Order: sequence, then C-alpha cells, then structure tokens
Amino acid sequence: MIKKAYEKYVLPKLLDVCCSTKPVSYQRAKVVPNASGNILEIGIGSGLNLPYYSKSKITKLYGLDPSEELCEMANKNASKHSMDVEMLISGAEEIELPSRTIDTVLITYTLCSIPSPNDALQEIKRVMKDDAIIIFCEHGKAPDENILKWQNRINPLWGKIAGGCNINRDIPNIINSAGLKINNLEQMYLPSTPKIVGYNYWGTASS
Ligand SMILES: C[S@@+](CC[C@H](N)C(=O)[O-])C[C@H]1O[C@@H](n2cnc3c(N)ncnc32)[C@H](O)[C@@H]1O
Repeated sequence: MIKKAYEKYVLPKLLDVCCSTKPVSYQRAKVVPNASGNILEIGIGSGLNLPYYSKSKITKLYGLDPSEELCEMANKNASKHSMDVEMLISGAEEIELPSRTIDTVLITYTLCSIPSPNDALQEIKRVMKDDAIIIFCEHGKAPDENILKWQNRINPLWGKIAGGCNINRDIPNIINSAGLKINNLEQMYLPSTPKIVGYNYWGTASS
C-alpha cells in the first residue's frame, strides 16, 4: 500500500525533477529536434521532451507510458506547448499501434527503467517502418571500473527509489542485442552530474 502511494503521489514528481536538470535538458536539445513524421515517444514521462520537438516536422505524435500519473502530467505539458499528443497508457512491451507505421521512435532516459528492454525493443521494431530510426539518449554503465563498481553496489537500492531505474545498464549492448544497428553513438559524463548516474549514450539506431 505504501509502495502504491509512493508510486502514485511521490515518484512522478521525483522523476520530473530529476529529469529536469540543465545538463539533461542540453541532451534533449541535441536529440529531440531530429524526430520527424509519425513519432512514437517511449516512456514519455511528464513530457519533458515536448518543448524540444521541431513542431513542423511532426505528422503525428504518440506518447507511451505505463504510468497514468505521468501521462496526465505529459498531457498538461502538451496543452502548455500547444501540442497534439495521443497518449498510449501501456508499457513498451505491448504497443497498441499497427505494424510498420512509425517513422521515428524517441527514447530518452527510459531503457534504464523498462524491466525487459529486449522485449520492448522487439515490440518497437514491429511498429517501425522499414526505414524508421530510433533516436535514443540514455544514462548507463560507466567506462571507469571504479564508478561501475559503485553503480553495481547502489543499483538495487536505486531501483527501489527511482521506479525500477537501473544505473548500470550497457545501453549499446542492449540495442545491438535486440538486432538493431547503431548508426551513430556518442558518449560522455554529463557535467555537474554525479558520475554514477551521469554517463550518457546517445545516437540513432535502425532495424
Ligand atoms: C526516468 S523516467 C524518464 C521519462 C522521460 N522519458 C524523460 O526523458 O524525461 C523513466 C520513464 O520510463 C517509464 N517506463 C517504465 N517502465 C516502462 C515500460 N515498460 N515501457 C515504457 N516506459 C516505461 C516510466 O513510467 C517513466 O516515465
């Protein structure tokens, strides 16, 4: 019961605040404007990417998230930015969209939280057109042994507080293992961010 109340009343606001830092916003500005056509945002959360879309490039925007509370916050953000977003309240493991209909899949800071990222990526592949791209920006496994050691130690507790978020996932490996091809990949520690949660991977991938 306490867990349910935490997930309903505390977690959505906590995620909104943690994902609103300046360095993370800079990351959003690097990747989100590249989305175009029929776009599916996976784990839209509170809608923090919405201000960064190039509105003229959007044919249709779907926002998917299993959390009703976060979808509500995203809806409010969409109204604030005069954007039309169709919300799909579900996990990415089951997407209520026809096959081969999406041009761009946007995933930011969400592969860390999906319980089975491989299942989600297989379902994402199903809805992608043949020439579709995935634009991703995620935090994950640090390249330094010492940081990784702390990531591994803290991860179980972190997940309990942060809605199942994992701080030590090998993002490129998860994407490659799902049978996707990474077209370009950049990575670095975000400035002014604790290193255990600050190592970012971003780029694009396709089927
Ligand atoms: C750290 S938040 C990031 C939110 C947003 N993508 C952003 O960039 O601010 C992680 C998000 O993943 C969502 N999530 C958790 N499990 C998921 C699943 N199985 N499929 C899709 N999204 C999921 C959560 O509800 C939450 O909105």
